[in-house]
Amino acid sequence: MHLFTYHNPTTLFFGKGQIIAIRRAIPEKHKVLVLYGGGSVKKNSVLDQVRAALSKHTFTEFGGIEPNPTYETLMSAVELARREGIDYLLAVGGGSVIDGAKFIAAAVPFEGKDPWEIVEKHAPVTKTPLPLSCVLTLPATGSESNNGAVISHAGKGIKRPFFHPQLYPVFAVLDPTTTYTLPLKQIGNGVVDAFVHVAEQYLTTPAQGYVQDYYAEGLLKTLLEVGPQTLQHPLDYEARANFMWVANQALNGLIGVGVPQDWSTHMIGHELTAMYGLDHAQTLAAIFTQNLRVRRKAKRAKLLQYAHRVWQIPATTDEEKAIDMAIDKTAAFFEVMGLKSSLAKLKIEREVIEKLPARLQESGQTALGEHGEVTPVVAKQILMASMEA
Ligand code: NZQ
Ligand code: ZN
Repeated sequence: MHLFTYHNPTTLFFGKGQIIAIRRAIPEKHKVLVLYGGGSVKKNSVLDQVRAALSKHTFTEFGGIEPNPTYETLMSAVELARREGIDYLLAVGGGSVIDGAKFIAAAVPFEGKDPWEIVEKHAPVTKTPLPLSCVLTLPATGSESNNGAVISHAGKGIKRPFFHPQLYPVFAVLDPTTTYTLPLKQIGNGVVDAFVHVAEQYLTTPAQGYVQDYYAEGLLKTLLEVGPQTLQHPLDYEARANFMWVANQALNGLIGVGVPQDWSTHMIGHELTAMYGLDHAQTLAAIFTQNLRVRRKAKRAKLLQYAHRVWQIPATTDEEKAIDMAIDKTAAFFEVMGLKSSLAKLKIEREVIEKLPARLQESGQTALGEHGEVTPVVAKQILMASMEA
């Protein structure tokens, strides 16, 4: 196991009725900007609950943050926050609204020329970012208690992640009942995104991280169980509660400490979203299993472990067959969750896909994966395998 420092300062208020906890958790001296997306939180009354919890606070609202939040939309919120003297952000929504809040928190006090530098160059934020908290309505990204965000620049046609140690939310409210109104597509997206988050930190090379491995396997098995349950029984509180908790644990930093991490599926996926507007999780479902197939030699030991421990494929099974079975079962699970497990099934044109490796090259993403082995050439092999699957 490698050296590591683990620190996650986000407080979680978990369970039905916890939105009221906002009242005490945000000191009344703050001037709050409540951020939300395209309106789901208005329809399902989550925003009304937030307004009630903030009845003793001074607050303003900014709606319209889109899925795959754009720099352009977020800059309107930055201008509003500067104009109104906002000193606290409260994101109410899914990963896009929370990621957007992280950008706004860093951009409001930014003194450089263009806040996009925060994303593009990981420019040091000159002043402390504004404090931010959130009410999560879509379990998927883990953004509610991590320090990462992914922002799209519509003008440039690109999508990029950034991280900052001071961008962990102060607190996150995780009330499973806020997810009851999720369309089935977003449930599928959330389960697959969380599954691939775990896998990007687990299906690499052995690092003697027994705790991380068993924990990751437990999270994957939980997803296999609650994914179909929550699709079939949308009002099952326990299924939703487990879904919300597992998606949080998948990317709160814990299982990735001290072990190699891949993330190449995510980085290729971000390019696909920037090019086609595909949902984040759909890009992962189309790339992930092909990534495993192309790199099965390098990942062999962990793939076998995955086959035995997660899919319960007997150790007596021929090793190559066990790996094939585990990968096939993974693709089938994505399909059960309503996503397409290959680019072929998405009917995307080959000529356009062929341009993707050049985008990775141009943006310097030339050594992705746990050991930097995913060059644009390897990325092309993965993409072509997915076009033919
Ligand atoms: O915009 P509204 O009207 O709220 O509707 C949203 C949106 O259309 C809807 N929704 C959310 N909660 C709902 C609901 N509809 C009904 N009832 C509810 N309770 O769902 C749609 C998708 O929302 P979005 O926030 O875009 O989804 P998600 O949480 O999957 O976030 C995706 C974004 O997060 C990034 C992705 O790249 C993408 O931009 N990621 C962020 C990560 C992080 N910060 O750590 C890691 C991830 O790998 C990911 O890259
Ligand atoms: Zn993801």
